[in-house]
Amino acid sequence: MGKDGMKRMLQPRQARARFQSILTGIGFVFAAVGWLIVNEQRRRARVAIRDAVLHAPPQTQARLRSLWLWWKLRMRDPWGRCRAQLVAGAIGDVLEVGVGRWPNLKRYPQVARLVGVESNRRGVFLVRRRIRRFLPSAEIVYAPLDKLPFPDASFDTVVSSLALCTARDPAATLREIARVLRPDGRFLFLEHVRAQSPFAAALQRICTPLWRLVADGCHLDRPTLAAIHQAGFIVESLEERDGGWWLARPTFHGVARPPQMPRSVADATSKEAL
Ligand SMILES: C[S@@+](CC[C@H](N)C(=O)[O-])C[C@H]1O[C@@H](n2cnc3c(N)ncnc32)[C@H](O)[C@@H]1O
Repeated sequence: MGKDGMKRMLQPRQARARFQSILTGIGFVFAAVGWLIVNEQRRRARVAIRDAVLHAPPQTQARLRSLWLWWKLRMRDPWGRCRAQLVAGAIGDVLEVGVGRWPNLKRYPQVARLVGVESNRRGVFLVRRRIRRFLPSAEIVYAPLDKLPFPDASFDTVVSSLALCTARDPAATLREIARVLRPDGRFLFLEHVRAQSPFAAALQRICTPLWRLVADGCHLDRPTLAAIHQAGFIVESLEERDGGWWLARPTFHGVARPPQMPRSVADATSKEAL
């Protein structure tokens, strides 16, 4: 084929490529303008709502406030109230496992050190922003729960809130929690577990495959309390908590001591420390 023939073949292809890049460019411009318009409308709507609320009669304001609280407590974070009670018991060096977007962060009392562990980096910007806003001294570490990157006996408190239902290997996670806890430390947990009624448990089992897809891998039917006992934790207190989605009940708030080491192992450990 001569030079002219080649040129003739390339021309339509080049023209198509140019046309496609122009279309892509126009698409980007439309998307950017659309985004700006939507953002501006949202800002205006927020300002209008705020003004309407600020100028509403006090009775309406009170009603709106309770509606907002109801939405926050019941719909947006149905476990909200339980979280504050859970972390209130944290003292000393504290590790929270499976923090997600770290909704508990702002509820912590003053502690010596607070570290969160999470494997999913999806909400990383949000978590960092929350740390800056609520507790700049807190640290976030991205690591698997079943291989915690901390030395033995390095925390006074380990907190798990709704993390064991998602953990890839709950038994290994509990072993790791026991390992990083100091012998006189405490494990604070808020976990929903498999229902006692056979009907509800069967429903949880049936719904779990679909639920896992929409709820970040959460299992509705895990016997988490039994797993905590099997891991050797000594449960000091256990209370059922109201809250959470109907299918993910019952939920328990518990405080447990780490498994006691056999005396020979404990002695060897303390001799090594000396
Ligand atoms: C249901 S969310 C709970 C989030 C938060 N603790 C709360 O109270 O809302 C469970 C979190 O545990 C994390 N997780 C599950 N398995 C994990 C693993 N093996 N290693 C690290 N994080 C894990 C998930 O990524 C998820 O963010």
